[in-house]
Formats: sequence, structure tokens, C-alpha cells
Amino acid sequence: MFPPPDHSGAAARGRLAAISGDITGLKVDAIVNAANTSLLGGGGVDGAIHRAAGPQLLACCRALGGCPTGDARITPAFELSARWIIHTVGPVWRDGRHGEPALLASCYRRSLELAAANSVRTIAFPAISCGVYGYPAPQAACIAVGETAAFLKNHESIEQILFVCFSDDILQAYQGALAGRFGA
Ligand code: AR6
Repeated sequence: MFPPPDHSGAAARGRLAAISGDITGLKVDAIVNAANTSLLGGGGVDGAIHRAAGPQLLACCRALGGCPTGDARITPAFELSARWIIHTVGPVWRDGRHGEPALLASCYRRSLELAAANSVRTIAFPAISCGVYGYPAPQAACIAVGETAAFLKNHESIEQILFVCFSDDILQAYQGALAGRFGA
């Protein structure tokens, strides 16, 4: 007997998409924030999310007492259209030999675990660690696509994962990673 065909790769591809845009304006169940270990705000997408969500977010984050690199925490999204914000802390890129790939993969996994535990069906990620933290975008995008696709195989409840790209080079990195994993 032949084994049944494996459609899981194709199914995951249909639930993953790279788009251009500003993550703060998206109507999804959860957006992910590329935070720092203090969870008290900063620049980049973190600053934009805190500005758009309003001051209650900072008060809520203060009560969480920080988050280690590679882990994630969830809060309401307050004034945003999204319902939840999942705050994750990406690694600072050094040379790739200091645990950066495993820590970045953990950010995606832990964020999706929290999403699934909170009945999230649609979720948007920024390019975690690809800004101030200096992670090379093509490598980061491969990890993002690989980790999220693996998660989708075992979690039917997540309907859509968006990779929200704030610049053309980031969008190209994600398109390349998706094509590399699933074909053009
Ligand atoms: N929507 C989507 N993506 C955005 C937005 C936005 N509104 N704004 C920026 N990006 P970064 P990191 C992109 O630096 O590298 C903060 O100060 C940006 O172009 O925000 O993980 C934190 O507090 C880039 O591609 O996050 C930490 O201290 C990506 O989001 C530190 O920066 C991530 O860039 C985290 O650094």
C-alpha cells in the first residue's frame, strides 16, 4: 500500500502570506511586537505599537515584569483594531554563532503557542530582530517561514499568518523564503 499523499505543506502555504504595510493598522486577532526584555517600549515597531495602542499598554506591560529573549507575553491591544498584542523578544545579531537562530525560532514558536492558547485565528508578525537588532533579513525570513509552517501543520485553528514587511528588502527576503520552502 502507498502512504496517503501529504498535503500539509500545501495547506500551510495557503495560510502564510508576506505583505507590505504598517502592522499597527491591521484588523487581525493578534499582532506580534518585536519588544525588548523590559517590555517597556522602545523604537521601531515597538514604539509604533505603543503609540497606537495608547498608554494603557505600558501600564499593562509594566505589570508583566519583563520577558527573556526567545520568549513571549500576551496583552490586550487596547486602542488597536487587533484584539491581542503578543510581545516577543528577538535576539541581538552578533555573528550567528551565539544561539541567534534557535532564539529567533523560539520567538515564533512561543508567540504561536500563546496565540493558539488564546483562540487566535489570524496573526501578523513583523520581521523580528531585523531592525535595530541587526539580524540579516534573508536568514531571519527562512527561520520565520520554517517555524510558522511547522506550527501550522499541527494547529488547524490558526487560519492565517501574515508577515508584515515595512521595507522592500524585507518583503523580498520573505518572498524568497516562501519560494524556497514551497516553490514559486
Ligand atoms: N509595522 C511593521 N513593521 C515595522 C514597523 C511597523 N509599524 N515599524 C518598524 N517595522 P525593530 P528589532 C519593522 O527595530 O530589530 C525596539 O527599540 C522594521 O523596519 O522594530 O527586533 C525594541 O524596543 C524592521 O524590519 O525590532 C527593541 O529594543 C522590523 O520591524 C528593539 O527595537 C523590526 O525592527 C528590537 O529590535
